[in-house]
Amino acid sequence: MAPHKTRIASFIGMALLAFGGTCSAADTGSHAQPWMNPRLTPDQRADLVLKAMTQDEKFRLIRVDFGDTENGHVMAPGALGSAGYGPAIARLGLPAIQESDAGLGVAKPHKLGATALPSGLATAASFDPAVARAGGAMIGGEAHSRGFNVMLAGGADLVRDPRNGRNFEYAGEDPLLAGVIVGNAIAGIQSRHVVSTIKHYAFNDLETARTTLSADIGEPAARESDLLAFEIAIATGHPGSVMCSYNRVNAVYACENDWLLNQVLKHDWHYPGFVMSDWGAVHSGAKAALAGLDQESAGETFDKEVYFDQPLRAAVASGEVPQSRIDDMARRILRSLFAAGVLDHPATQSAIDFAADRRVAQRAEEAGAVLLRNRDALLPLSAAQSVAVIGGHADKGVLTGGGSSAVQSPQGNAVPDLPPTAWPGPRIYQPSAPLAAIRQRAHGAVSYASGEDIAAAAKLAAQAKVAVVFVEQWAAESVDAPHLTLPGNQDALVEAVARANPHTVVVLENNGPVAMPWLARVGAVLEAWYPGAAGGEAIARLLYGEVDPSGRLPLTWPRDESQLPRPQIPGAALTSMGQPPQGQPAQDVDYNIEGADVGYRWYQRKHLDPLFPFGYGLTYTHFDYSGFAPRMANGKVTASFTVTNRGARAGVDVPQLYVTLPGPDEVRRLAGWCRVDLKPGQSAHLTVTADPRLLVDFDSKNRHWQQAAGDYRLQLGHSATSFQGDGKVTLAAASWAADASPAGVPQPCTASVTR
Ligand code: BGC
Repeated sequence: MAPHKTRIASFIGMALLAFGGTCSAADTGSHAQPWMNPRLTPDQRADLVLKAMTQDEKFRLIRVDFGDTENGHVMAPGALGSAGYGPAIARLGLPAIQESDAGLGVAKPHKLGATALPSGLATAASFDPAVARAGGAMIGGEAHSRGFNVMLAGGADLVRDPRNGRNFEYAGEDPLLAGVIVGNAIAGIQSRHVVSTIKHYAFNDLETARTTLSADIGEPAARESDLLAFEIAIATGHPGSVMCSYNRVNAVYACENDWLLNQVLKHDWHYPGFVMSDWGAVHSGAKAALAGLDQESAGETFDKEVYFDQPLRAAVASGEVPQSRIDDMARRILRSLFAAGVLDHPATQSAIDFAADRRVAQRAEEAGAVLLRNRDALLPLSAAQSVAVIGGHADKGVLTGGGSSAVQSPQGNAVPDLPPTAWPGPRIYQPSAPLAAIRQRAHGAVSYASGEDIAAAAKLAAQAKVAVVFVEQWAAESVDAPHLTLPGNQDALVEAVARANPHTVVVLENNGPVAMPWLARVGAVLEAWYPGAAGGEAIARLLYGEVDPSGRLPLTWPRDESQLPRPQIPGAALTSMGQPPQGQPAQDVDYNIEGADVGYRWYQRKHLDPLFPFGYGLTYTHFDYSGFAPRMANGKVTASFTVTNRGARAGVDVPQLYVTLPGPDEVRRLAGWCRVDLKPGQSAHLTVTADPRLLVDFDSKNRHWQQAAGDYRLQLGHSATSFQGDGKVTLAAASWAADASPAGVPQPCTASVTR
């Protein structure tokens, strides 16, 4: 979005919701509106509406206005003070389109508040589709209860760089994991009759110069990486809309990119929904419409002009754009509204059970926090220990990422007025204080120091049995971090505390991987991401062992920037956080460097040893694998094995199946996984099916997916670099046309607990 977002939303719209918000069959007479018949298919219903529509009504449907006040935009009567608003077409019984950000909860209006999920990376780290689905259903339910029928939720861009300011909105570096997690989140949202919008399509993998940057990548690499994540998420969750991104892809703006929109999305993937633009991402009328853009978002506020009004009408009049394209645009939008049940279950103001929703957010954080280090079983803490809690505003709450996805609690911002206060701020904290949650559990003394005075913090640490230091890294859309270093004096703080107390635990509240120069000197590190609405409680429960840490990294943690495919991001700056720009932003970013070998695949290809590998995470117990037996079953590559909890505590394991395709330069790919909860000594017999989309390569010359003949190596991993099980299956050559990729929804792992 353009660089100014207001902090205070206007609420004129709330009072007018009944006018602009909903129309039902009962209001208007279903006999005159046959599309109100829920027994018809979404396609039939959309066709019926389309036949009854005037050209003006179609043109009204293919653009939405900004739903908030900003840049001189006056909020329309009926808008709710959020991202987008399209007026109702009462004559047809079509409700107003009410759009709200984003994947971590209902972001606006801030003042009303909503329940914040933890980072998308936390949900991905759970490796649990059910956690993603429950989170989606929770935020979709809140959106519906606020009167929204479209959520701009479903971030599926791959994490190609740990410094990308939006990583916390996404689901990691692996296309299968991201696709499954985001697809399930979308399905959850849409189960509440709210259209979900997968975004940002595509390759919006950096924020620096995001509105001009060209993401350059060859077709096979594109199809096997970010596009694969989108393909899997779309096949899994069926989002009603896709948001095309700000950036250019191979020099062509994503929202006027025929290859991305028409060829890949709509033709090859048979996508029946609509493509909406990002806010300020449209640069043309006819060109964008012909390339496959179906709806312009907030053009009056963020684009140079409203391309999908007069300019597009003129293009239709001149014959440059056929009328059938306008009809297709409107039909796609209508179809998605019907498919999600927007007309049958209108979004209306209703009470929200915030206590129940908070529990959903808490469970996601508890399932997704990753224990990175635990020397001498420092964790879990025991209630008898005295604790010095230090830093990170742990006395007040937990940090939230910034930009359009930032959710503020109904109780307000726990630490207001910290920089940056303007876009992409404000910097928001959820009022869930780890300090209070630790105090509830500790019988020994609990003290607190803010960490601003390092000497005072170290002194406090020295007096306690255990020191728990909270460190934070704020991030937001439109900006990338220039490097991996924690802002401010936090490294010095951790060093000093660790020197004062060998029993130091570090809790990270961050966008993702950061440099940890003090790692060897601290006892334990818990990656809590942005922990969400009940983050303080969840962190305390994990620290005290009321729940076992069970998250596994959905990305690779580099040792330093030199290990990354692009050690520098030219022009990256987080000036308001004390990180000034490094050079001038580039015009292009070359994703062909790593191509489809994103994350752990890059590390293997370059023989690099990361600090922590993808899929890694400790628990308070440990697991053992045996009997690994890959085989072909019903035409699918499957692997069965037994996992046993060898420790003295209950815990959750995430055994991962990796496949290496035949050929000299191939690296491992995650092909499936399980998440299993086992009591001490208990075993489970598990069967994982390799997703067929991970067994093929894209051949752009022949426009098909190719399965090579040969031996496919299968490895059973505790992470992407640690294995306990190795085997192979032999496959014959096979191919699938680009528009008939080899699978639908990924198969869940099956488990039978044996003892
Ligand atoms: C973001 C989108 C968001 C939109 C509407 C843009 O700045 O890139 O993710 O949905 O604003 O707020």
